[in-house]
Amino acid sequence: MKKFLTALICVLLSLTTVFAFTACRDTGGKSQTDQSGGQLTPETPDGTEPVAPGGYGSVLVVYFSATGNTEAVANYIAESTNGTLFELVPVNEYTDADLNYSNHNSRVYQEYENEELRDVELVSTAIENWDEYDTVFIGYPIWWGIAAWPVNDFIEDNDFTGKTVIPFCTSSSSGLGQSGTLLEELAGTGNWLQGHRFRSSASESDVSSWLEELGVI
Ligand SMILES: Cc1cc2nc3c(=O)[nH]c(=O)nc-3n(C[C@H](O)[C@H](O)[C@H](O)COP(=O)(O)O)c2cc1C
Repeated sequence: MKKFLTALICVLLSLTTVFAFTACRDTGGKSQTDQSGGQLTPETPDGTEPVAPGGYGSVLVVYFSATGNTEAVANYIAESTNGTLFELVPVNEYTDADLNYSNHNSRVYQEYENEELRDVELVSTAIENWDEYDTVFIGYPIWWGIAAWPVNDFIEDNDFTGKTVIPFCTSSSSGLGQSGTLLEELAGTGNWLQGHRFRSSASESDVSSWLEELGVI
């Protein structure tokens, strides 16, 4: 009987050790729970707030749109990501006549021909609480194969260090081309992703398919 009791105690002690070990190991890379079963916030090495699941964190959607197509895409992105919208508005807004690229005397054609005229002043390039955004979507129409230049002022005026930047554009037929890369060079900071071109009349489902591919939603 004494031998049996000793053996039983040994077995119970071993089982306790195994359970304790299993409960403590292998929590790396996964969220942990506190003693009461609630979620513990994962810590970053520098103690800053971690980026939300999906890795995109809080989202800002900045765009310029002369005739509303890019604006529609920007709206879809902001709605799907719970992002903040910010429209880039030129001090001297483009009229229909200004945008008539078939007319070589039009404003936009003159700017196309002469790079020095492309410095388009914006009403504002300053984003409230800029530091709080982890990801910046930047949208524009394609003009002669590149990003419409009214976005340049915003890119030049801001520091994208520590942010993920995702260009998107609308166009009649041209692709994204070098537009994102050229803006990345102009910015000089930020982690720029490839980006995406949408047709002028992009639908909400076109946009959500892309956001799903990116893993943003
Ligand atoms: C000045 C100008 C230049 C354009 N150049 C191109 C181009 O090179 N390739 C293209 O596919 N579409 C071009 N487009 C068409 C626009 O990219 C397209 O209509 C876009 O969806 C407009 O976006 P928005 O409504 O946001 O301004 C041009 C339009 C304008 C006004």
